[in-house]
Amino acid sequence: MKGVILAGGNATRLRPLTWVTNKHLLPIYNKPMIYYPLESMARAGIKEVLITTGPDHSGDFINLLRSGKDFGLKLSYEIQEDAGGLSQAVSLAGEFAGEEKILVILGDNIFKHNLAKAVADFEEQKEGAKVFGKRMATECRQYGVIEIKDGKVVSIEEKPENPKSDIAQTGIYMYDSQVFDFIKTLNPSARGELEITDLNNLYVKQGTMTCEIMEDWWVDAGTSFNELLRANMLVAEEVKKENGG
Ligand code: G1P
Repeated sequence: MKGVILAGGNATRLRPLTWVTNKHLLPIYNKPMIYYPLESMARAGIKEVLITTGPDHSGDFINLLRSGKDFGLKLSYEIQEDAGGLSQAVSLAGEFAGEEKILVILGDNIFKHNLAKAVADFEEQKEGAKVFGKRMATECRQYGVIEIKDGKVVSIEEKPENPKSDIAQTGIYMYDSQVFDFIKTLNPSARGELEITDLNNLYVKQGTMTCEIMEDWWVDAGTSFNELLRANMLVAEEVKKENGG
């Protein structure tokens, strides 16, 4: 399986921090944000990763990450000319993926969960997709929300006013090679983007979408200044534990 990290977008919710700096390069405790999804890929046993980003900051990513050797990864880069949404960014991975399945992680998602077992299992699976969910103690209205009935994903709604469950759709997805044909059938949403949730719902409709709930902590650091701060504190806590403190 190959990996894809989506690191584009305008990050309007984090301005002024993101006027000149790409969100995924902002510091999370002692590393730039994008290091975390890259390390999650490497931990999951993925060897080749494609990073998609906009034209303005692509040079910064290459300067920082280079070949990926330091992470034990082989990195490639694709430029997303316009911020046309997450599904459009995934579509740029068509050539890179070939017939292989892909693990997609949004560049601002930071989490503890080890994806290695899920990757190994998904590789064995004939077809379909998997989304990783996280039960939220408070509001999950700012995320996609996953509804599960009798163990099956029955709907995913993007930032709903009245969430049907407490399961947030995280930015971690696995897709089979149907994904690129599915994206071709998507229409832009009200905000003019090809939404990841619309893509995921095509698999829900096909009956091949599964969901794995993560127990450990998870943060979408791009949501707000508070979530960005929370990501810093959670990572600092982990580093402290690793150092025996
Ligand atoms: C995106 C997805 C959303 C998901 C979130 C997770 O939202 O559209 O469904 O819950 O990532 O990080 P965004 O943060 O781009 O608004």
